[in-house]
Amino acid sequence: MAAADVRVARRLYAQHRDVRPLVEQVRTVADGLSGPPYDLRPVRVLLAQLEAQLLPHERAEEAELLPIMVRALGGAEAAGGLSRTHAEIEHQVSRLRRSLADLSDRPEPEDVVDVRRLLYGLYAVLRLHNAQEEEGPFSLIPDVPAGPVPTGGG
Ligand SMILES: [Fe+2]
Ligand SMILES: [Fe+2]
Repeated sequence: MAAADVRVARRLYAQHRDVRPLVEQVRTVADGLSGPPYDLRPVRVLLAQLEAQLLPHERAEEAELLPIMVRALGGAEAAGGLSRTHAEIEHQVSRLRRSLADLSDRPEPEDVVDVRRLLYGLYAVLRLHNAQEEEGPFSLIPDVPAGPVPTGGG
């Protein structure tokens, strides 16, 4: 990996670790919808955070990390899977945005089921995606251990 690529990859890896608590927050907010009284305000706060923090991070990885990975490994195939999950993350966040736009803060139980399912789906995709980035491109950075980032209780 060229020195300039190492610098960019390190910056993105720091950002990647910083969004970890937000990923866990997706599950926490979904768990909060497990029984009445149903309140969608925490979901709206979460959506704003996903749009302000998570999506810019995923877009930066798509634009900057995947080309580094292709250069380092000499083939575009390895980056294809990560690119598809970036698209899937964007898609799921927009579905969440559309669902919330139609609902009041005190929704009917059947509407909550839908939002909760979306949140758990997004959480599963994000966990898998992050593990693949940690085992893939981020493991190519010198002095970064391969494998999942320790959650460290947060
Ligand atoms: Fe990431
Ligand atoms: Fe990513």
